[in-house]
Amino acid sequence: MKNIVRSLFFTRDASDDELRRLIDSEHFDPLFERANEVRHLHFGDDVYLRGLIEFSNYCKNDCFYCGLRASNRSAVRYRLTHDEILQCCDEGYRLGFRTFVLQSGEDPSFKDEDICQIVHSIKTKYPDCAVTLSIGEKSYNSYLAYFQAGADRYLLRHETASDEHYRSLHPQNMDPVHRKECLRNLKKIGYQVGSGFMVGTPGQTLDNLVQDLRFLQELEPHMIGIGPFIPHGETPFAHEAQGSLQRTLNLVAILRLMFPQALIPATTALGTIDPRGRELGLQAGANVVMPNLSPVRVRKLYTPYENKICTGEEAAQCRRCLERRLESVGLHSVVSRGDYPGVRR
Ligand code: 5AD
Ligand code: FES
Repeated sequence: MKNIVRSLFFTRDASDDELRRLIDSEHFDPLFERANEVRHLHFGDDVYLRGLIEFSNYCKNDCFYCGLRASNRSAVRYRLTHDEILQCCDEGYRLGFRTFVLQSGEDPSFKDEDICQIVHSIKTKYPDCAVTLSIGEKSYNSYLAYFQAGADRYLLRHETASDEHYRSLHPQNMDPVHRKECLRNLKKIGYQVGSGFMVGTPGQTLDNLVQDLRFLQELEPHMIGIGPFIPHGETPFAHEAQGSLQRTLNLVAILRLMFPQALIPATTALGTIDPRGRELGLQAGANVVMPNLSPVRVRKLYTPYENKICTGEEAAQCRRCLERRLESVGLHSVVSRGDYPGVRR
């Protein structure tokens, strides 16, 4: 096993069988030590902050795993106004954030012009900040319009690279081929692109996870977000088991070794399944944290999964709490856009 880690470190690759063994390993310290070393080599002790603004929880999609799904009639829906979104950025800027991530369900009431206007006003007010969009599958021309309005980055997890597995997690009108095409379009346009997947979704095999890694090798994203699947009571997967902490951490470490320069967040989902989940993620090679900047009154309403953390804290409290958590593992946050090394338009 140590040889696998060594060759992953030197060649950034391993055979399918070797990857399966690493993904499935238990407490294999050399994997984490190497991943931590590689993170340190490229980024030192620096961790990048992204201020997350969840601006609408309306969604036209019906993903079987997600609490925001259209058929969840018990979800209380909200939308932030243009002004409210800008106020979140004002507060975020004061707290040292230089990236704002605008995330929502696929909410058709935000037209392309609305998104472009919001992006444009943030970039005009805060030209030293990066704007990341995470608003789902759109046409090439929509992506292009947002980019021309000033958006720098886009997050769209592929969720699972296996077409068959994808179809078992989504209704028939959602197409795995289209989702991958979206990711290629985003890259073509010039965004810094983030993709990723959930760990432990129902029916997921070790082979599926290897397929996820192979897909990412082909896509070469700048950012990779992964987190454990966590069941939500108002979905068809309410009674499925949650994804494993160990397996998620193994994958964070493998991703760090395969993609040494990638921006990899220690996700909120990881912090939700274990009180020290995010710290463990950082020690496994993650180098980004994404505290919430949404107004506290809507926090509890943006819940793709249950028991999500940080739903009661003001942005400033989250900011301080995270700083302490970073310090506890010898890291610190930096006031910087935190672009992919060498990429900035
Ligand atoms: N558990 C964990 N992650 C989830 N997501 C959606 N629903 C769940 C869930 N039940 C993730 C998806 C999506 C991201 C915003 O949240 O990967 O892309
Ligand atoms: Fe939000 Fe700790 S990061 S309360």
